[in-house]
Amino acid sequence: MEKISVMITQEEIEKRIDEMAKEISHVYEGKTVHMIGILKGSVFFMCELAKRMTIPVTLDFMSVSSYGNDTKSSGVVKIVKDLDEPIEGKEVILVEDILDSGRTLSYVCEILKARKPSTLKVITLLDKPDRRVVPVFLDMKGFEIPDKFIVGYGLDYAQKYRNLPYIGVVEEE
Ligand code: IMP
Ligand code: MG
Repeated sequence: MEKISVMITQEEIEKRIDEMAKEISHVYEGKTVHMIGILKGSVFFMCELAKRMTIPVTLDFMSVSSYGNDTKSSGVVKIVKDLDEPIEGKEVILVEDILDSGRTLSYVCEILKARKPSTLKVITLLDKPDRRVVPVFLDMKGFEIPDKFIVGYGLDYAQKYRNLPYIGVVEEE
């Protein structure tokens, strides 16, 4: 059993998501936003964000593999589940849980751009800038965090802890 210490409280996360939802609703006023979540990590953040948005929202999901049951990136990214709907002409926001090396987001962005959305923006709940290997332009981020392996709010350690309502650091024995 790992020891988890709190890094960002539920209250802090939800306050930040409120702000992000307000800003997005303002920027896309009068439009419908098509949110694409990368499974499974982004689901919790995406739902909380979508619930707070005051403009029409549609949702789709994609699953890519980049990590095994490990805390290190394999460097390999492949599509495990593709989108259900075409995105051509849509106002797309790609939603991620965390931007780490940048491999996942840069790969998914290239795939999505080729499908000709009207606009494509990228947002993430968390950003670990120290770990970047591939550059990724972010339109919005929730929090910048230090280079620690974290769990909760969708993020897992060997598929566990996604349901923690806060962001915690895994203390290795
Ligand atoms: P990237 O391709 O290296 O940017 O990795 C992004 C993905 O790695 C995220 O969507 C997460 O699934 C996973 N990941 C990166 N850092 C962490 C972490 O600290 N805890 C849990 N998962 C992480
Ligand atoms: Mg993920």
